[in-house]
Amino acid sequence: MNDLKYSIGEVSYWDQEDRRIMKTCLSNWFQSPKVLNFVAPSMTYPFKFTTWVNYYRKLSAITTFVAKHKDWIVGHISLHFDETTKNAHLFHLFVDPEYRRQGLAKIIIKAMEDHGSNLGAVSFSLFVVPKNDSARVLYEKLGYQEDNRSHSSGIKYSKINQG
Ligand SMILES: CC(C)(COP(=O)(O)OP(=O)(O)OC[C@H]1O[C@@H](n2cnc3c(N)ncnc32)[C@H](O)[C@@H]1OP(=O)(O)O)[C@@H](O)C(=O)NCCC(=O)NCCS
Repeated sequence: MNDLKYSIGEVSYWDQEDRRIMKTCLSNWFQSPKVLNFVAPSMTYPFKFTTWVNYYRKLSAITTFVAKHKDWIVGHISLHFDETTKNAHLFHLFVDPEYRRQGLAKIIIKAMEDHGSNLGAVSFSLFVVPKNDSARVLYEKLGYQEDNRSHSSGIKYSKINQG
């Protein structure tokens, strides 16, 4: 794994230019219903960028990071920080298929967890659909534990922030 291959930067769905770029990028990524379901189970196929952006409009305190390789966006992750519970919820994780199994998901999750820590997060959580075995292995490797209660959004994984 070579972290230096990638740069991590913030994008905002409130910024017109970022929206334009992300629309192209996400429309390209979500050409299969299975992939869309893994990343955004509440969305119906085909992918609609306006529906995606509306999700961001509903919640405040969201941060989105993208990973770039030579100016090319190859990964995406968002975080919602709850000021009351001090929980940081990770969502919309995606790594470009051509860049998988190189540790990139680990890198962007770690960058987001560091950001959550700076906001004061005491815990991290995320949801995963039951069939998404690769993501479940990834989260378990990063110290997340399955919460046995059932949730409409999928299986909840969480961990205490020890950072
Ligand atoms: C899941 C996903 C984000 C993983 O991204 P990635 O950059 O390939 O992950 P990493 O290289 O950081 O993998 C870290 C570890 O996770 C596990 N893992 C990742 N992909 C895996 C796969 N396809 N099968 C088995 N284990 C896998 C491995 O243990 C891996 O470590 P290793 O390569 O040393 O064996 C990527 O496959 C993806 O974008 N999938 C589609 C969208 C999605 O499912 N998002 C998650 C929504 S909850």
